[in-house]
Amino acid sequence: MMKPILSTQDYQNRIKTILITEEEIQEEIKKVAVKIDALYDGRPLLLVGILKGSFVFMADVCRRVSVPCEVAFMRVQSYFDGTVSSGNLKILMDLDRDVTKYHVVILEDIIDTGRTLAEVLKLLKERNPLSLTLVTLLDKPDRRVVEVKADHTLFTIPDRFVIGYGLDCAEYYRNLPYIAEYNSEE
Ligand code: IMP
Ligand code: MG
Repeated sequence: MMKPILSTQDYQNRIKTILITEEEIQEEIKKVAVKIDALYDGRPLLLVGILKGSFVFMADVCRRVSVPCEVAFMRVQSYFDGTVSSGNLKILMDLDRDVTKYHVVILEDIIDTGRTLAEVLKLLKERNPLSLTLVTLLDKPDRRVVEVKADHTLFTIPDRFVIGYGLDCAEYYRNLPYIAEYNSEE
């Protein structure tokens, strides 16, 4: 079945309030980059983005990093199209290299229940990288089901469904330059 086209009006109406502005995001990204520069200077560094949600975050973080680094992506899925977690992890696209020669920094968009990251961390640990750290743009600790702690969190947010800056609702809104709350009321 074809996905119904959302009118621009409806599309705009669902953007409830801006929670985190472009400027606020960029300020925090500068701080992460400074940390990465200090920690990985002189070390083989691989930034791993978890797709699709982290593509904007990765683009901004990697452009602020000054030490030599490589980037790679992995696509996993633990959510259906809407806003409900399934709790299962499927690898839809795997990394294109052996991580044993790298210090790996995972860049994730959001830790919600923690199910996705718990699985991703377990999987990557088993592949024996030189080290493994987790950087998350957003953390919703109230929703945690599985214990996962990021080494660096840019923003801790309340239990709200958010969109923008890579995060979607049914694949829309990833291109918003800020992070907003999604209005799910009919
Ligand atoms: P977890 O496995 O429950 O931690 O879910 C992580 C994934 O769920 C993220 O990578 C997102 O793709 C998605 N997700 C969780 N919360 C939100 C949200 O508020 N907005 C958009 N996507 C979300
Ligand atoms: Mg998603």
